[in-house]
Order: sequence, then C-alpha cells, then structure tokens
Amino acid sequence: MIILKNEREIEVMREAGGVAANVLASVCNWIQPGVTTKDVDEYAALLIKEHGAKSAFLGYKKYPCHLCLSVNEQVVHGLANGRILQFGDIVSIDVGVLYRGYIGDTARTAAVGGCGVLEQKLMDVTERALYEGINQAVSGNRVSDVSRAIQNYVEGNGFSVVREFVGHGVGKTMHEDPQIPNYVENKPSPKLRPGMTLAIEPMVNAGAPAVEILRDGWTVVTKDGKPSAHFEHTVLITETEPEILTCLEKRPLKLKVG
Ligand code: MF3
Ligand code: CO
Ligand code: CO
Repeated sequence: MIILKNEREIEVMREAGGVAANVLASVCNWIQPGVTTKDVDEYAALLIKEHGAKSAFLGYKKYPCHLCLSVNEQVVHGLANGRILQFGDIVSIDVGVLYRGYIGDTARTAAVGGCGVLEQKLMDVTERALYEGINQAVSGNRVSDVSRAIQNYVEGNGFSVVREFVGHGVGKTMHEDPQIPNYVENKPSPKLRPGMTLAIEPMVNAGAPAVEILRDGWTVVTKDGKPSAHFEHTVLITETEPEILTCLEKRPLKLKVG
C-alpha cells in the first residue's frame, strides 16, 4: 500500500529532508585523509542532535551506527569503525534522519581529498543517473520509468546497477511501498501520483553488478572488488515537476551550539 502525504505532512518532510541534506553536506565537507569512519559517525551524531533530529538508522534492525559509510568496493550499509580514510578513497555517505515524526533519506559518494579518474567518472555517472531517474518521477509515469532511466544511463556509460537493493517509499517509516529498483523488472509497476514521497537511490558498480554481504552481517561489497557509488534523494511527486525534499536549505538552519 502506497501512503500519500497531505500538505501538512509534506511540510514536515521538507524540514526532515533539509536536516538530512544539511548533515550530509557537512559530513562531506568534513571528511579528509586521516579520520576514521568512526570519527565521521560521531561527528554526524553531533550534527543530527544539534538539528533536534535522530538517526533513522541507529537501532533499525539492530544497525549499530548513525550513518552508513561505505568505502571503495563497499556498496551500501558500511559500518563505522577504526578504518582510517586515505587520500584517493571514495566514501558513500548515507544519512537518514527522523525529524518530527518523518524521515529524510539522502546519500552521496565523495572522494577523500581526491580520487582516480575511474572513481570520479563512477561518481559523476551515478549522480547523473539519480537526476535522470528524478526527471521521470512525474505523476502519470510509472515506477518502471524511473528505473529504466537510471538503468539506461548507467549501462550506457559502461557501468552496472546493483539488483539486490532498491529505492523505496519513505514517510513516517524509512521503507514504505513502492520499491524502486534501479533496473527494469518484467512485471507491472505502480503509477506515480501527487503526494507520493520516494527515495530514489542508484547504487552503481564500476565492474559487474554482483554483490555479497561481509561477515559483519551488514556491509555490502562488490564481488569483483571494483568500486561502487551511491547517490540518493527523497523526492515528492507533485502535479507538475518532482520536488527534491533533501536539498540544502535556502536559508541556514538555526543550530544550537554548546
Ligand atoms: N538509508 C538506507 C536506504 O537508503 C537504509 C539504511 S538501513 C541501515 O534505504 F540499517 F543500514 F541503516
Ligand atoms: Co539512504
Ligand atoms: Co533509502
């Protein structure tokens, strides 16, 4: 069942999305060679708290961290630990916050200091694929139109989309209907309607699509060890153009400091 949001709920989801976007931007600016992923997680925990929000991930199915931090060949759901980020690493940072009862979910991959040409192309193609998908997120289209746009763009650029993890509806809970695959499935897919709020999130591998889960039970990695990237926005379907809810605030948020 797909839950449509009313104007009051949408207003709160704009705020939740703004908090998630702000945290993500701050974390991206903060990462640099020498910090551990645990440092990054602790920094994000502080920011989330300053915004009066909570991590939507911590405790979700016993997930132990505030963020997902996935380095290089790690695809998604990477755990924060003592790993020291090195110049040239790429880190997929996924931020989910619960703010006034609603969730904002957004992710991007960023280079630590700088990165190789392949990694930069991978990040560019994945971000661009997200916007190709968002462009199809209009009333009257189907979920499969979003999926197709993402898949075509990614594969047209010589990369592959992950099959085992998908985008999703989002609202009071992090994962609502419908699922939003990043590839076309040979089955009927729901029509998009105003009031739907969707997390669109291509996960793109430089090599083959196959992934596996590490023995920590969470970290998803590419089977071939090649790098992977992940970009995500929470998007509102409207009567006209899609509205990205996880964009940066036009005016600075009031932060409580100290
Ligand atoms: N934010 C992820 C998503 O985009 C879900 C993370 S679940 C967690 O759907 F438990 F790993 F945090
Ligand atoms: Co996410
Ligand atoms: Co998501």
